Amino acid sequence: MIEFQHVFKSYGRGRNILADINFRIEPGEFVFVSGPSGAGKSTLLKLIGGLEPSSRGAVHVNGHRLDKMSARARPYLRRAVGIILQDTHLLYDRSAMNNVLLPLTVAGQERRQAQTRARAAMEKVGLSGKEDLNPIEMSGGEQQRLAIARAIVNRPAILVVDEPTANLDQDSARRIMEVFRDFNRVGVTTLIASHDRALMASYATRTLRIDHQGRFFDTPGVQL
Ligand SMILES: Nc1ncnc2c1ncn2[C@@H]1O[C@H](COP(=O)(O)OP(=O)(O)OP(=O)(O)O)[C@@H](O)[C@H]1O
Ligand SMILES: [Mg+2]
Repeated sequence: MIEFQHVFKSYGRGRNILADINFRIEPGEFVFVSGPSGAGKSTLLKLIGGLEPSSRGAVHVNGHRLDKMSARARPYLRRAVGIILQDTHLLYDRSAMNNVLLPLTVAGQERRQAQTRARAAMEKVGLSGKEDLNPIEMSGGEQQRLAIARAIVNRPAILVVDEPTANLDQDSARRIMEVFRDFNRVGVTTLIASHDRALMASYATRTLRIDHQGRFFDTPGVQL
Protein backbone atom coordinates (compact mmCIF):
# COMPACT_ATOMS: atom_id res chain seq x y z
CA MET A 1 0.00 0.00 0.00
CA ILE A 2 2.88 2.32 0.92
CA GLU A 3 6.52 1.60 0.26
CA PHE A 4 9.67 3.70 0.79
CA GLN A 5 12.87 2.57 -0.94
CA HIS A 6 16.07 4.37 0.09
CA VAL A 7 14.22 7.62 0.62
CA PHE A 8 16.14 10.78 1.52
CA LYS A 9 14.62 14.16 2.24
CA SER A 10 16.22 17.53 2.83
CA TYR A 11 14.72 20.98 2.42
CA GLY A 12 16.77 23.08 -0.03
CA ARG A 13 20.43 22.75 0.83
CA GLY A 14 19.72 21.82 4.45
CA ARG A 15 20.70 18.62 6.24
CA ASN A 16 18.90 15.36 5.57
CA ILE A 17 15.77 15.18 7.69
CA LEU A 18 15.14 11.63 6.48
CA ALA A 19 18.08 9.48 5.37
CA ASP A 20 17.82 6.11 3.64
CA ILE A 21 14.34 5.26 4.90
CA ASN A 22 12.94 1.86 3.94
CA PHE A 23 9.62 0.37 4.94
CA ARG A 24 6.51 -1.20 3.52
CA ILE A 25 2.97 -0.89 4.87
CA GLU A 26 0.31 -3.41 3.89
CA PRO A 27 -3.36 -2.54 3.27
CA GLY A 28 -5.36 -2.17 6.48
CA GLU A 29 -2.46 -1.55 8.87
CA PHE A 30 -2.73 1.00 11.71
CA VAL A 31 0.68 2.61 12.16
CA PHE A 32 1.90 5.04 14.81
CA VAL A 33 4.55 7.55 13.69
CA SER A 34 6.56 8.72 16.69
CA GLY A 35 9.60 10.77 17.58
CA PRO A 36 10.58 14.05 19.23
CA SER A 37 9.58 17.45 17.88
CA GLY A 38 11.54 18.31 14.74
CA ALA A 39 12.53 14.70 14.02
CA GLY A 40 10.69 14.55 10.71
CA LYS A 41 7.27 13.00 11.38
CA SER A 42 5.30 15.60 9.43
CA THR A 43 7.88 15.43 6.65
CA LEU A 44 7.35 11.67 6.37
CA LEU A 45 3.57 12.10 6.18
CA LYS A 46 3.85 14.86 3.57
CA LEU A 47 5.95 12.57 1.35
CA ILE A 48 3.19 9.94 1.52
CA GLY A 49 0.51 12.52 0.70
CA GLY A 50 2.57 13.82 -2.22
CA LEU A 51 2.75 17.28 -0.63
CA GLU A 52 6.57 17.22 -0.64
CA PRO A 53 8.83 15.42 -3.12
CA SER A 54 11.56 13.10 -1.87
CA SER A 55 15.10 14.33 -2.53
CA ARG A 56 16.16 10.81 -3.48
CA GLY A 57 14.61 7.34 -3.51
CA ALA A 58 11.22 5.93 -4.45
CA VAL A 59 7.91 6.50 -2.69
CA HIS A 60 5.12 4.13 -3.77
CA VAL A 61 1.54 4.85 -2.71
CA ASN A 62 -1.45 2.73 -3.70
CA GLY A 63 0.31 1.28 -6.72
CA HIS A 64 1.84 4.52 -7.95
CA ARG A 65 5.42 5.72 -7.79
CA LEU A 66 4.92 9.34 -6.77
CA ASP A 67 8.01 10.92 -8.32
CA LYS A 68 7.11 9.36 -11.68
CA MET A 69 3.47 10.31 -11.45
CA SER A 70 1.97 12.38 -14.25
CA ALA A 71 0.03 15.55 -13.54
CA ARG A 72 -3.08 13.73 -14.79
CA ALA A 73 -2.73 11.01 -12.15
CA ARG A 74 -2.38 13.50 -9.25
CA PRO A 75 -6.10 13.98 -8.58
CA TYR A 76 -6.34 10.22 -8.23
CA LEU A 77 -3.72 10.32 -5.47
CA ARG A 78 -5.62 13.11 -3.76
CA ARG A 79 -8.73 10.91 -3.65
CA ALA A 80 -6.84 7.84 -2.49
CA VAL A 81 -5.10 9.57 0.43
CA GLY A 82 -6.99 11.58 3.03
CA ILE A 83 -4.43 13.82 4.72
CA ILE A 84 -4.95 15.85 7.88
CA LEU A 85 -2.07 18.17 8.71
CA GLN A 86 -1.14 19.99 11.92
CA ASP A 87 -2.15 23.20 10.21
CA THR A 88 -5.68 22.32 9.08
CA HIS A 89 -5.75 24.47 5.90
CA LEU A 90 -9.45 25.13 6.27
CA LEU A 91 -11.06 27.72 4.02
CA TYR A 92 -12.29 30.69 6.01
CA ASP A 93 -14.33 32.23 3.19
CA ARG A 94 -17.09 29.60 3.46
CA SER A 95 -19.11 27.59 5.96
CA ALA A 96 -17.97 24.45 7.76
CA MET A 97 -20.35 22.41 5.60
CA ASN A 98 -18.91 23.84 2.40
CA ASN A 99 -15.39 22.97 3.58
CA VAL A 100 -16.47 19.34 3.92
CA LEU A 101 -18.36 19.43 0.59
CA LEU A 102 -15.35 20.66 -1.34
CA PRO A 103 -13.62 17.31 -2.06
CA LEU A 104 -16.95 15.86 -3.27
CA THR A 105 -17.66 18.87 -5.48
CA VAL A 106 -14.17 18.61 -6.98
CA ALA A 107 -14.83 14.90 -7.63
CA GLY A 108 -18.03 15.87 -9.46
CA GLN A 109 -20.48 14.27 -7.07
CA GLU A 110 -24.17 15.11 -7.42
CA ARG A 111 -25.21 17.87 -4.97
CA ARG A 112 -27.90 16.09 -2.93
CA GLN A 113 -25.83 12.96 -2.42
CA ALA A 114 -22.78 15.08 -1.59
CA GLN A 115 -24.74 16.93 1.09
CA THR A 116 -25.94 13.70 2.66
CA ARG A 117 -22.39 12.41 2.85
CA ALA A 118 -20.96 15.68 4.15
CA ARG A 119 -23.61 15.75 6.89
CA ALA A 120 -22.77 12.15 7.85
CA ALA A 121 -19.05 12.99 8.01
CA MET A 122 -19.74 15.97 10.27
CA GLU A 123 -21.93 13.84 12.50
CA LYS A 124 -19.18 11.23 12.74
CA VAL A 125 -16.75 13.78 14.19
CA GLY A 126 -19.35 15.28 16.53
CA LEU A 127 -20.04 18.49 14.64
CA SER A 128 -23.76 18.11 13.93
CA GLY A 129 -25.47 21.49 14.17
CA LYS A 130 -22.29 23.40 13.32
CA GLU A 131 -22.72 23.10 9.54
CA ASP A 132 -23.42 26.77 8.95
CA LEU A 133 -20.66 28.22 11.11
CA ASN A 134 -17.60 29.75 9.53
CA PRO A 135 -14.51 27.83 10.69
CA ILE A 136 -13.24 31.06 12.25
CA GLU A 137 -16.14 30.80 14.73
CA MET A 138 -15.04 27.32 15.81
CA SER A 139 -12.60 26.31 18.54
CA GLY A 140 -9.19 24.82 17.70
CA GLY A 141 -10.44 21.32 18.48
CA GLU A 142 -13.59 21.82 16.39
CA GLN A 143 -11.50 23.04 13.47
CA GLN A 144 -9.33 19.95 13.83
CA ARG A 145 -12.44 17.75 13.71
CA LEU A 146 -13.75 19.67 10.70
CA ALA A 147 -10.48 18.93 8.89
CA ILE A 148 -11.00 15.26 9.75
CA ALA A 149 -14.55 15.33 8.33
CA ARG A 150 -13.21 16.84 5.12
CA ALA A 151 -10.52 14.14 4.86
CA ILE A 152 -12.87 11.18 5.42
CA VAL A 153 -15.83 12.39 3.36
CA ASN A 154 -14.71 10.77 0.11
CA ARG A 155 -13.69 7.51 1.80
CA PRO A 156 -9.99 7.39 0.98
CA ALA A 157 -8.05 4.10 0.98
CA ILE A 158 -5.33 5.65 3.12
CA LEU A 159 -5.62 8.12 6.00
CA VAL A 160 -2.53 10.10 6.97
CA VAL A 161 -3.00 12.14 10.11
CA ASP A 162 -0.66 14.58 11.83
CA GLU A 163 -1.26 15.13 15.57
CA PRO A 164 -5.06 14.74 15.47
CA THR A 165 -5.53 14.98 19.22
CA ALA A 166 -3.12 17.79 20.09
CA ASN A 167 -5.90 20.34 20.66
CA LEU A 168 -8.40 17.98 22.27
CA ASP A 169 -9.32 16.98 25.81
CA GLN A 170 -9.08 13.30 26.66
CA ASP A 171 -12.71 12.40 25.92
CA SER A 172 -12.73 14.15 22.55
CA ALA A 173 -9.36 12.60 21.73
CA ARG A 174 -10.76 9.13 22.39
CA ARG A 175 -13.84 9.84 20.30
CA ILE A 176 -11.69 10.99 17.38
CA MET A 177 -9.47 7.94 17.68
CA GLU A 178 -12.61 5.78 17.53
CA VAL A 179 -13.50 7.48 14.24
CA PHE A 180 -10.12 6.49 12.82
CA ARG A 181 -10.49 2.99 14.23
CA ASP A 182 -13.91 2.59 12.55
CA PHE A 183 -12.32 3.49 9.22
CA ASN A 184 -9.39 1.18 9.84
CA ARG A 185 -11.78 -1.67 10.64
CA VAL A 186 -13.31 -1.43 7.19
CA GLY A 187 -9.86 -1.65 5.64
CA VAL A 188 -8.53 1.91 5.52
CA THR A 189 -4.75 1.97 5.95
CA THR A 190 -4.05 4.46 8.74
CA LEU A 191 -0.90 6.35 9.77
CA ILE A 192 -1.01 8.74 12.71
CA ALA A 193 1.81 10.94 14.00
CA SER A 194 1.36 11.81 17.65
CA HIS A 195 3.17 12.60 20.87
CA ASP A 196 0.48 10.74 22.83
CA ARG A 197 1.92 7.23 22.99
CA ALA A 198 -0.43 6.13 25.75
CA LEU A 199 -3.44 6.97 23.58
CA MET A 200 -1.93 5.31 20.49
CA ALA A 201 -1.28 2.11 22.45
CA SER A 202 -5.00 1.23 22.23
CA TYR A 203 -5.03 1.49 18.46
CA ALA A 204 -1.79 1.07 16.54
CA THR A 205 -0.05 -2.25 15.95
CA ARG A 206 3.21 -0.93 14.56
CA THR A 207 5.50 2.03 15.19
CA LEU A 208 7.69 3.97 12.78
CA ARG A 209 9.97 6.03 14.99
CA ILE A 210 12.48 8.71 14.08
CA ASP A 211 14.81 9.68 16.92
CA HIS A 212 16.50 13.04 17.58
CA GLN A 213 19.53 11.95 15.51
CA GLY A 214 17.36 11.04 12.54
CA ARG A 215 17.69 7.30 13.07
CA PHE A 216 14.72 5.27 11.90
CA PHE A 217 13.13 2.32 13.73
CA ASP A 218 10.33 0.08 12.50
CA THR A 219 8.90 -2.03 15.31
CA PRO A 220 5.75 -4.01 16.08
CA GLY A 221 3.36 -2.64 18.69
CA VAL A 222 3.50 0.82 20.24
CA GLN A 223 6.75 1.83 21.90
CA LEU A 224 6.07 3.00 25.44
N1 LIG B 1 9.23 23.63 4.58
C1 LIG B 1 10.36 23.47 5.30
N2 LIG B 1 11.50 24.12 4.94
C2 LIG B 1 12.63 23.95 5.64
N3 LIG B 1 12.76 23.15 6.71
C3 LIG B 1 11.66 22.48 7.10
C4 LIG B 1 10.41 22.60 6.42
N4 LIG B 1 9.51 21.81 7.04
C5 LIG B 1 10.16 21.23 8.07
N5 LIG B 1 11.46 21.62 8.11
C6 LIG B 1 12.48 21.16 9.07
O1 LIG B 1 12.51 19.75 9.04
C7 LIG B 1 12.66 19.22 10.35
C8 LIG B 1 11.58 18.21 10.62
O2 LIG B 1 10.32 18.88 10.64
P1 LIG B 1 8.94 18.11 10.83
O3 LIG B 1 7.87 19.12 10.74
O4 LIG B 1 8.90 16.97 9.88
O5 LIG B 1 9.13 17.56 12.34
P2 LIG B 1 8.07 16.81 13.29
O6 LIG B 1 8.70 15.54 13.72
O7 LIG B 1 6.76 16.73 12.61
O8 LIG B 1 7.99 17.79 14.54
P3 LIG B 1 6.73 18.16 15.50
O9 LIG B 1 6.60 17.04 16.48
O10 LIG B 1 7.17 19.42 16.16
O11 LIG B 1 5.54 18.36 14.64
C9 LIG B 1 12.68 20.41 11.30
O12 LIG B 1 14.00 20.69 11.65
C10 LIG B 1 12.10 21.54 10.48
O13 LIG B 1 12.67 22.77 10.84
MG1 LIG C 1 4.98 17.57 12.94
